[in-house]
Amino acid sequence: MRFLVTAGPTREPIDPVRYLSNRSSGKMGYAIAEAAIEAGHEVVLISGPVDIDRPRAAAVIPISTSDEMFVAVHEHVPNCDVLVMCAAVADYKPVAVFTKKIKKREAKLLLELIPTRDVLASLPKARKYLVVGFAAETDNIETNAQKKLLKKNCDVVVANDARIGMEGDENEVKIFFRGGANKKISRASKKIVARELIKLFENVCEKRLTKKNGR
Ligand code: CTP
Repeated sequence: MRFLVTAGPTREPIDPVRYLSNRSSGKMGYAIAEAAIEAGHEVVLISGPVDIDRPRAAAVIPISTSDEMFVAVHEHVPNCDVLVMCAAVADYKPVAVFTKKIKKREAKLLLELIPTRDVLASLPKARKYLVVGFAAETDNIETNAQKKLLKKNCDVVVANDARIGMEGDENEVKIFFRGGANKKISRASKKIVARELIKLFENVCEKRLTKKNGR
């Protein structure tokens, strides 16, 4: 199968030397890309700025801003079988980018932000590929993840506690499937969690294919 995986943070420029970003390390997305390759799949990896070696067998598309992420996903998603939106795309960006460095002053500085475009929510409802969203939460993990599954029209949502998963080498996730089923993967290295996730995504695709072929 052809996997399109997004990983890492985005950076939303404020001025030529500053940006807004988040603590995503990209480790989970890269582990998913590696696990998909290991399982014999083709991988295109759209990556925000991270400090990890690129998986050698993946086509890596480096992006920086949420707008670049939006454009890259829309360009490549029609050619994939599974989209895994693991990236921590910024929710807000500055209304305007200063062309010169903002100089320090005594007065308060107010930064006006606008919401970025939501990549998942922008995907067509009628599509052939499987859409996997991620939900990094600090509270009400299950309720928030289930809300995201519906609101963002995902087929699967992988929820994790942002305090465990955000920067470290381990993760513990709960996966919610359209239709109500869920499954937990206990705390383990991101590499092991990624391998389990790939198996689950393969199963969902297999079931969809069986259903489609009326077997
Ligand atoms: N996402 C996206 N486009 C955005 C922001 C997020 O496609 N502009 C995707 C992420 O890649 C992830 C999912 O949406 O797969 C959930 O991201 P998250 O940050 O947890 O959710 P938000 O929609 O930003 O909601 P909140 O910050 O309120 O939890």
